[in-house]
Amino acid sequence: MSLLEINGLKTYFYTQEGVVKAVDGATYSVEEGETLGLVGESGCGKSVSALSILRLIPNPPGRIVEGEIMFQGRDLLKIDEEEMRKIRGNDIAMVFQEPMTSLNPVLTIGRQITESIELHQDLSGSGARSRAVDLLELVGIPSAGERLDDYPHQFSGGMRQRVMIAMAMSCNPKILLADEPTTALDVTIQAQILEVMANLSKEFGTAVIVITHNLGVVARYADNVNVMYAGKVIERASAANLYETPHHPYTVGLLNSVPRLDQGRDEKLIPIEGNPPDLANLPRGCSFSPRCDFKVDRCLEEYPEVSSAGEGHTVACWEWQNVRKRESSAV
Ligand SMILES: Nc1ncnc2c1ncn2[C@@H]1O[C@H](COP(=O)(O)OP(=O)(O)O)[C@@H](O)[C@H]1O
Ligand code: SF4
Ligand SMILES: [Mg+2]
Repeated sequence: MSLLEINGLKTYFYTQEGVVKAVDGATYSVEEGETLGLVGESGCGKSVSALSILRLIPNPPGRIVEGEIMFQGRDLLKIDEEEMRKIRGNDIAMVFQEPMTSLNPVLTIGRQITESIELHQDLSGSGARSRAVDLLELVGIPSAGERLDDYPHQFSGGMRQRVMIAMAMSCNPKILLADEPTTALDVTIQAQILEVMANLSKEFGTAVIVITHNLGVVARYADNVNVMYAGKVIERASAANLYETPHHPYTVGLLNSVPRLDQGRDEKLIPIEGNPPDLANLPRGCSFSPRCDFKVDRCLEEYPEVSSAGEGHTVACWEWQNVRKRESSAV
């Protein structure tokens, strides 16, 4: 049994423009100690996926309409709100995008971390303080003991993000959800933050789900990656396989559009042409078809079946074998 199993999850928003299918049939699992990347352009349903796991979808207009979220054998969609509250922040913790708005500017870093420790663990006073130092060391903050009395503005963006991760880890969560934790940071710092999370995951067995639009960076630190397009997982593979042999035209496009850590700064980035899809008005057939260079007639009629492209590698595209052929002959 996996730590987390998501089966056929659908989360819709009922708006004046129509039904926005933000997550539309996502199925995947996450193991203990695994770092999973959820990747895709803005608006493809990444945040809604994470908020669905925590059952924090604003209703109205949103609702989880179908599916299962099995966590340690229990369906989170079937338990009552009281039980769900115990799971949030204890078993499943979340780090949000902007650490400056999540940290309180008028409290010291030490106070904010010890508050969180006191809430979740049977520790207070000097015990909580020394645990706070341990946590800051774990996330790689130099001279952690001396920095406890500093305020958030005295930390750089990358260091604030580390503090947020330390706070989230203070309850020893089974799952850490990190929603675009590094977007505002430079690529090298982004990589360092992801490395911190991947290390915590290996050391404590915490499953980490990292949401990002930068496939180039996450591919190096995640074990597996789900690529999302229009509310669906269109390709899933180990990070190494996805990086080396992407099969879906959208994944190929994403890799060409972001800086890769293994290439120089002057590499040419090619944005994916066309507009992101309108989730309330998706085309018939494959959602990516309006932007796809590989499309054939069938793509305009039928949504592609999920095919297996090797161990642990799945892809939803009718033409993936031809995409691969063209890609390898272009190299
Ligand atoms: N509260 C809401 N009301 C209506 N639509 C929403 C709401 N939250 C998210 N959505 C829609 O759901 C889709 C997916 O959003 P989101 O998961 O935030 O994307 P991202 O991949 O950028 O994190 C978007 O089209 C967004 O407009
Ligand atoms: S199914 Fe067709 S339109 Fe969709 S990504 Fe594959 S080739 Fe392109
Ligand atoms: Mg988001």
